[in-house]
This record gives sequence, C-alpha cells and structure tokens, in this order.
Amino acid sequence: MSSGLALRSEPAPIVACTVSSMVHHFGLLIEDMENELGEAWGDLGFDEARDFMGALDEGHLDFIALAVRGEDEADLGRVGEVIRVAREKKIKVILIPENLSTAGLRELLRLGADDFVPYPLAEGALRDAIAKVRQKPEPMPSSDDQATPPQVTAPTTGQRLDGKSAIFAVQNLAGGTGATTLAVNMAWELANIDKKNPPSVCLIDLDLQHGSVATYLDLPRREIVLELLQDVASMDSDGFKQALVGFQDRLSIFTTPGEIVPLDIIGPDEVTALIDLAANSFDIVIVDMPRTIVVWTETVLNRVDMFFTTMELDLRSAQNAMRFIKALRAEGLPLEKIHYVLNRAPGLTDLNGKNRMKKMAESLGVKFATQLPDGGRPVMQAGDNGEPLADAAKKNPLRKEIHKLSDGLFKAMVAETRAKG
Ligand SMILES: Nc1ncnc2c1ncn2[C@@H]1O[C@H](COP(=O)(O)OP(=O)(O)OP(=O)(O)O)[C@@H](O)[C@H]1O
Ligand SMILES: [Mg+2]
Repeated sequence: MSSGLALRSEPAPIVACTVSSMVHHFGLLIEDMENELGEAWGDLGFDEARDFMGALDEGHLDFIALAVRGEDEADLGRVGEVIRVAREKKIKVILIPENLSTAGLRELLRLGADDFVPYPLAEGALRDAIAKVRQKPEPMPSSDDQATPPQVTAPTTGQRLDGKSAIFAVQNLAGGTGATTLAVNMAWELANIDKKNPPSVCLIDLDLQHGSVATYLDLPRREIVLELLQDVASMDSDGFKQALVGFQDRLSIFTTPGEIVPLDIIGPDEVTALIDLAANSFDIVIVDMPRTIVVWTETVLNRVDMFFTTMELDLRSAQNAMRFIKALRAEGLPLEKIHYVLNRAPGLTDLNGKNRMKKMAESLGVKFATQLPDGGRPVMQAGDNGEPLADAAKKNPLRKEIHKLSDGLFKAMVAETRAKG
C-alpha cells in the first residue's frame, strides 16, 4: 500500500485519515477503510497528522481513525495532541486501540475521542462507527467544555417527594437469576405506584458489559453515556439528565454505552458521583449491578439503602452466595443491607422444594425476604418485546410479587418521610 497523504489524495478528495505510528501493522483497518471510502482517505503518523490537521480549515476532513498500540503508550501525549487538534478543527475521532491499558484508553477517551472500536476490528465495526460519528452534530465535549451536545427526549421526573432519596441496588449471585428483570420491573412498579403523586424514579444500568436494561425496555443507548462515565466528577445535574432516556415519560434510565467497556473504566469516585447526581434529582434510584464483584461493589453497597441479591435454588447460587457473604464479612461490609431474593422459588404445594429452600437458607444463615415465582415464558417475551410485566402480563405471578415488594418499599419510604417530617 502506498503511504502518505499526497498519494492518497488523488483522484478522490480525502474525507478521512488513519493516524498511527505504523499503519502497516493495522491491515484490517486498511482493508475496512478501503471498503468504506475507496481511495478517499490517507494515512498519517501522529506528528504528521497534528501538523496536517492544524493547517486545515474546519470541515475539510470528516474523521480520523486513530490507531493506537500498546507500544505507543510510552508517548501518549503525542496521541493526545492529535485528538486535541482534531477537536479544534471539528474532526471526529474514532479510536482504534490495540492492547492499550485501561488507564491509557480512559485517558484518550477523556481527551475527547468520539467513539472507539478495538483492534482487531470486528466485522462491520468500523462501518458502524463511521456512521455513528457522521451522525453526531459535534464532537463530544471534554471535561473543560462548557456546552454539552443537544440530546433528545429529556427524561421526565415525577414530583419530588419530600424525603431523602431511596437508593437500591440489584445484583445476581449467579448469572441469569433475574436481577435485571427485578430491577426493571421494580423501577416500573415504583414509578406507577401512586397515581396522584408518583415518586420520580431513575434506573441506572451499571452492568457495563452485559447491561440489558435498554433491551428489556427497548431503549436507545445514549453515546454521551460513555463520556459521562469517564468524567462524572465534572458533570452537573443538567449534563446527567441529558444522558438519561425516558420510558413512557415516567421512568428515567441511564443505560450502558453502546460498546462493551472495561468494568474498571469507572472507579469508586465515579460511581459515587453518579449515584449522587441521580439522588439529587430523583426520589428513588435503582442500580443494576454487574454479576462480577468489582472494586466499586463495596462503594455501592455502602451507599445504598438496600442491596437486593438474586439467586435460585441450586448449588451454583448457594456456593456463590456463600463466597459473597464470606467476602463481605471479611471486609466488614454492611451485610444487614442485603435483601436475599430467591427467584423461581418453589410454589406453595411444592413441599420438597420448600424443604430445600429452608435448608439452603439455613446453611447460608440468611432469610429469603422475597421469593419470586417462576412466571414462565411471558417474562422472557415481555423482555424481548421491551415491555415491563405490568404492561405486557399484568396478571403474571412474577409481576404480582414484584408489585407487592415495590408497594412495601414505597410505603416504608413514605412512613419514614412522615416520621422525619
Ligand atoms: N421468575 C422468572 N420467571 C420466568 N422467567 C424469568 C424469571 N426471572 C428471570 N426470568 C428470565 O430469565 C432470563 C434472565 O433474567 P435476567 O436477565 O433478569 O437475569 P440477570 O440475573 O440480570 O442475568 P445476567 O447475568 O445476564 O445479568 C430472562 O430471559 C428473564 O426473562
Ligand atoms: Mg442482568
């Protein structure tokens, strides 16, 4: 492949460039750029790109594909300079990281890359990223920008009740045991719990890699979410609200970003700031947690009023629960906040199941404060259709139980508010 901008600039006008220390290393990127843009792109080194873009007028280049290898991290400042100049000239930046450390990736995203697609590129990933950045009205703001990009669908909040916000988190102790189903439906039940004076509810999906709240409610994922996660500390309440998506004008959701991001892209400080932002604007905040224990699990546990853990009546759940409880105890964390939820719990007439449940609770030394029945296929179907159970299967036994639980929580909140007032 011929390298250099001059060669590439003929005959098609250049609309984009790859920028890297060694373009030959990124064979798949070259292939994809050719597929997407034909001849209308060039390839530049980091310093070349900085100087070239610096001399351009705005609007002369759509985007750069900034390919950064682990080896480039030693001189990340040079790469940062490229992003800075691109932003100055309103040129979108698609970051293509290969073997970058999380800290390096975070830093480059913080500087204002518009999107990132890890290398080696997955089929169609570059095409999607190009389409996305071309749609964006402006580059994403960095922490020092005053303005935030316009976002659609401002979330609605109910009237603020008088008390302090209630904060709940939901985590599964074994994958697929219904944590997100509980978080989503509890949020929706609470948002509808009082016709006259409904509490305002915000649901935050922190299952950054496998978050399915957006799927279960059929919501778009805001791009600004990734930016916000990088830089929550400097975000104000208005900026936070712009990242939210409304569901039927009654529930506000902070979804996960469109791409998979490392769980440690946020740390305890970011999580605290995010929950604070939500608690400043909403009566009830519900956090859907990732299934793995991360450095900020403790932060959430310390911050919430109640931490719901879902499990089922099987050995996998029992062993995970045992380890979880042991770890919490060893760290001196507030075990009393844990609310154990047994999902797909045995029915009234299942005496054998009841007996096993009792034994499991005894061996863990816990009480299953909530038992959720199996709701059958309609539960999965509601999720697939992007509808909460109250809308899709009102009479479903699982819905009834989640309604009961939410009703109890709301009454307790109101009682507490009155007692304080
Ligand atoms: N009580 C139930 N009755 C019937 N189906 C259920 C029930 N609870 C959960 N499901 C179904 O099980 C699947 C997994 O549920 P969900 O996504 O809520 O679990 P999770 O614990 O959040 O999983 P993940 O580990 O992926 O985060 C979904 O298809 C959901 O519809
Ligand atoms: Mg989940």
